[in-house]
Amino acid sequence: MSELTNTPTHVPMPTPEDNPVITTADDKSTGGKNNGKKVFIKTYGCQMNVYDTERMEDALAQDGYTSTDVMEDADLVLLNTCHIREKAAEKVYSDIGRVNKVKIKRAKKGLKTTLGVTGCVAQAEGKEIMHRAPIVNLVAGPQTYHNLSRMVEEAESGKRVVETEFEIEEKFAKLKTPTRKQIIARGVAAFLTVQEGCDKFCTFCVVPYTRGAEVSRSVDQIIEEAHRLVDAGVGEVTLLGQNVNAWHGAKNGKEWRLGELLYKLSEIEGLKRLRYTTSHPIDMDDVLIEAHGKIDKLMPYLHLPVQSGSDKILKSMNRHHTSAEYMDVIKRVRKVRPDMAISGDFIVGFPGESDEDFEQTMDLIREVGYSSTYSFKYSERPGTPGAEMDNKVPESIKAERLLRLQALLREQLIDFNQNCVGKEMDILIEKKGRDAGQIVGRSPWLQAVVIDGDMSEVGNIVRVKPKSANAAALMADRIKS
Ligand code: SAH
Ligand code: SF4
Ligand code: F3S
Repeated sequence: MSELTNTPTHVPMPTPEDNPVITTADDKSTGGKNNGKKVFIKTYGCQMNVYDTERMEDALAQDGYTSTDVMEDADLVLLNTCHIREKAAEKVYSDIGRVNKVKIKRAKKGLKTTLGVTGCVAQAEGKEIMHRAPIVNLVAGPQTYHNLSRMVEEAESGKRVVETEFEIEEKFAKLKTPTRKQIIARGVAAFLTVQEGCDKFCTFCVVPYTRGAEVSRSVDQIIEEAHRLVDAGVGEVTLLGQNVNAWHGAKNGKEWRLGELLYKLSEIEGLKRLRYTTSHPIDMDDVLIEAHGKIDKLMPYLHLPVQSGSDKILKSMNRHHTSAEYMDVIKRVRKVRPDMAISGDFIVGFPGESDEDFEQTMDLIREVGYSSTYSFKYSERPGTPGAEMDNKVPESIKAERLLRLQALLREQLIDFNQNCVGKEMDILIEKKGRDAGQIVGRSPWLQAVVIDGDMSEVGNIVRVKPKSANAAALMADRIKS
């Protein structure tokens, strides 16, 4: 998983710690007042963090901060971190070192720099960060961002602030909303967090500890936010959650799950496309599956992580399903939507994974036929049950397995893209292409599609026919209508 770029709007969960999103937001300081200060936020990890970064920018904009993508210009630097794998967590400390150098340079010019660490590392290692890195002024866990303004004020006045409480419901109720101008600056495809936290406790994973228990936002809050996005010109909304299909709510005395929410959101006039990510196989209920056959706006793309094809490993990962049950979900989804693109996450080298277990993962991949995927070597996380398990797999074997697995997945991705050549499709135009005179849109299956055109078309749906494809993109011609 390494595709996260500066326009992170379409990368399925999770996103890479090694390719951080640098929020470039020259035009986002539209909160009204201006205190002359600038904020630089660096975002790691998944889309939930991307969404949170935007909410932090919204709050700070109202306090008068302008966003910048030049750290040297920033009075306030925030590192919005990810704890999912060891490499991700360690990166924070090297970044703190980088900020320190900038701080020293700025101090020579008489400028003050305040540094805050937010996100999942802040949650997991808050006190340790403060101890290891005296330069850090503020540590704030993901459930405290509604208090950001106060925390920043305190940190700027010289206090060292640590807040890692879980008050998730309050967070969503109190987070500042973006202005219309801010939404427009962020592009035609937007994220909308509907659910946060996780109760599943897979034995390899830190998320239940860093994000807390599963909490769903209310139907009304979600609908209101979706309207606000669409009114500002957003054409595509991706609902986000660590387990987005575990979302549940109530409307008019009826219990709703994600399927019902999608029907409701699809009624919003002006909303062109809907997506959701990340789903857990055990929460793919009938209403949700059927929705894929009935809601035209719901795109035929499903990110459904499986992690392993071995029942023995799935069990010790505490995934609550077998490989056959996973395949059954895929079959049911493809029955209502035969062209569904399936994406997934895989972990190789979980403790106890034998050659045979690994081969079962390879077999499952062959059976499913994936589009885009994310795959990782198991990374031991302190405090998770996996870290206590015997039969650890040596790094060299993990590396070998990952290489083989990724070669197969890459083949499948290229096949998937090449099978689209010659097939007419609608794309939503999002941004400029790399070369002059080119623009890039998204296919229903989340592929980047490059056509000739100009930026006046951003936000439009254009009918195209791909003429070639590689692992990264499709090249297409317009279809004259
Ligand atoms: N809630 C989602 C995934 C969230 S974490 C789900 O259940 O599918 C995103 C991905 O990171 C996971 O799907 C898994 O593939 C990977 N991951 C999580 N913990 C990991 C670890 N300790 N080592 C390696 N990969 C890990
Ligand atoms: Fe982590 Fe499992 Fe929860 Fe996904 S379902 S966030 S992998 S514990
Ligand atoms: Fe990372 Fe936290 Fe997301 S650990 S993957 S930023 S939920």
